[in-house]
Amino acid sequence: MKTLGEFLIANQQKFQDSTGEFSKVIHALRLAAKVVSHEVNKAGLVDILGEVGTTNIQGESQQKLDVFAHDLFIKALTNRKIVCGIASEEADDFIQVKHSESEKESKYIVLIDPLDGSSNIDVNVSLGTIFSIYKKKSKGSEVVLDDFLQAGTEQVAAGYILYGTSTLFVYTTGQGVNGFTLNPAIGTFYLSHPNITLPREGHIYSINEANYASFPQAVKDFLKKSKAEDLNYTTRYIGSMVSDIHRNMLKGGLFLYPPNAKSPNGKLRLLYECNPIAYIVEQAGGMAVSMDKRIMEIEPTELHQREPFFCGNSEMIDDLQGYLQKTE
Ligand code: AHG
Ligand code: MN
Ligand code: MN
Repeated sequence: MKTLGEFLIANQQKFQDSTGEFSKVIHALRLAAKVVSHEVNKAGLVDILGEVGTTNIQGESQQKLDVFAHDLFIKALTNRKIVCGIASEEADDFIQVKHSESEKESKYIVLIDPLDGSSNIDVNVSLGTIFSIYKKKSKGSEVVLDDFLQAGTEQVAAGYILYGTSTLFVYTTGQGVNGFTLNPAIGTFYLSHPNITLPREGHIYSINEANYASFPQAVKDFLKKSKAEDLNYTTRYIGSMVSDIHRNMLKGGLFLYPPNAKSPNGKLRLLYECNPIAYIVEQAGGMAVSMDKRIMEIEPTELHQREPFFCGNSEMIDDLQGYLQKTE
């Protein structure tokens, strides 16, 4: 079975002008993923569970593992100076990676949700990491906010790492989606899920239905009809988006995080949660939309902006969009 390293080399050779810079970014993410995976697996044994006592810019309490994963991904990417800027869920502002005059400027920027599914850390349930890679577009030598506020359609690559019963590294560069499983004994990722494609039909829907009372009427109507006996739908909701999305990618299904009274724009962040997942889901043959537009076409205005998020099988999204459009 091909390793992630071999896969990267094989794909790099397809591009004549490739400098290997992109592969280095993936190598750094792969290294950090292994360390986080190791830490997550011994979480109950060492003093890494629980809250730090601080909140992030979004007012969410930070867990020790959130901060640990953030530091680790930032270090892996900055120490080697293979990117020029990073934005993370756990940092208020973007991070500038300084290069000395003798060093070649990097062209990539990374946006990251270092640990997805924080509420599941203390209860031994699957967690994830989500990342999105762009090229710096500003002309000056330093990255600026606008470099991070690019539409999802500009992504060079996107991926997620799932720390589940096994650790899986899934990514796309716009030529399909491939998944690599970590063999923890030797620390190597192997191509276990080549060319992941959503099944044509889906029967799962994933949503935090406890917020039902304040969902838009269109979503309520869609949920009501989803309970029809002949549809044979089932609900599955882990509360770690990476896990919910991964399951739906393999089995077919729809993930929904609509606006509600607590989160008027939905809860999920456009730049490092919605866009990378949207890219992956589209590459796997599915769709990802907000209330009235394709997720990846939204022009971002803020680093941590939130967006209502619906993604999954094209047929299920079409069906949902029929409801969303009717009530507007
Ligand atoms: P994070 O842990 O990075 O803040 O993200 C948590 C997200 C996502 O993983 C999940 O789908 C969603 O929050 C769950 O939210 P609810 O608890 O509101 O259902
Ligand atoms: Mn998240
Ligand atoms: Mn997170």
